[in-house]
Amino acid sequence: MLKKVTAVAAVALRGSHRPSLMATCRHSTTVSTAVNSLLLRSLKEHYLEISRMTPPPKVSPPSSFSIIKGALDGNGPVLTRSYGNEEINVSVMRLANIVPGGGGDDGDDEINQLFLHVTVSKPEQRESLHFLCGLYPDALGIHSVSMRPKAESSGFLVVPSGYNGPVFEDLDEKMRDVLHNYIEERGINQSLFSFLQAWLYVKEHRNLMRWFRSVGSFINEPKNAKED
Ligand SMILES: *[C@@H]1O[C@H](CO)[C@@H](O)[C@H](O)[C@H]1NC(C)=O
Ligand SMILES: *[C@@H]1O[C@H](CO)[C@@H](O)[C@H](O)[C@H]1NC(C)=O
Repeated sequence: MLKKVTAVAAVALRGSHRPSLMATCRHSTTVSTAVNSLLLRSLKEHYLEISRMTPPPKVSPPSSFSIIKGALDGNGPVLTRSYGNEEINVSVMRLANIVPGGGGDDGDDEINQLFLHVTVSKPEQRESLHFLCGLYPDALGIHSVSMRPKAESSGFLVVPSGYNGPVFEDLDEKMRDVLHNYIEERGINQSLFSFLQAWLYVKEHRNLMRWFRSVGSFINEPKNAKED
């Protein structure tokens, strides 16, 4: 619309019917179309390549946990279980996605470091107990323990709004051990690793496929609009 208005104005000013602006427009459109089709072809090739990748074998979560419906498409918790009258939710991220380079230099190390956010809630309590943990194939370490309002519980809390608890390492050793026992008793240990690792793989694969599709259709859009 704006282009049309400008073109009309330019022609009127020049007092000529020479459609020079149209020619200029068509020229620049042709150039970007060439880049667009290169990009679209490249996106399509990679998309196909990735869609042909064989998924890893399906891993089930430890039997006491169930997978939360729709977790693959959201940012919320992945696993849930009840323990007495408590509800335990588990969210997961890769450490490298939170702290750039946080996984170290080694690619394998990086992929084998997960970040867990565990919430323990009780029906009659307004706050829930939060554990931020590092999860490795053969170990689980607690980073922090804090109390947070239940409303904040959904999803991953990278930037908590309240007190994040004491530095875990500064706590008395006995207290650290008992806190470890506390989450261990609720089924939070290294046995979650293989399921969560496979789950993240599926999620990342889906995100990547979606990225190729959405970037592709965004770039394709003006062409489609013109054809309509
Ligand atoms: C646990 O996750 C489920 C599903 O996302 C959610 O409905 C529930 O509120 C969560 N519980 C807590 C305490 O965050
Ligand atoms: C992890 O916890 C589950 C459930 O409590 C238990 O069956 C399993 O043996 C534990 N795994 C390890 C490695 O301690």
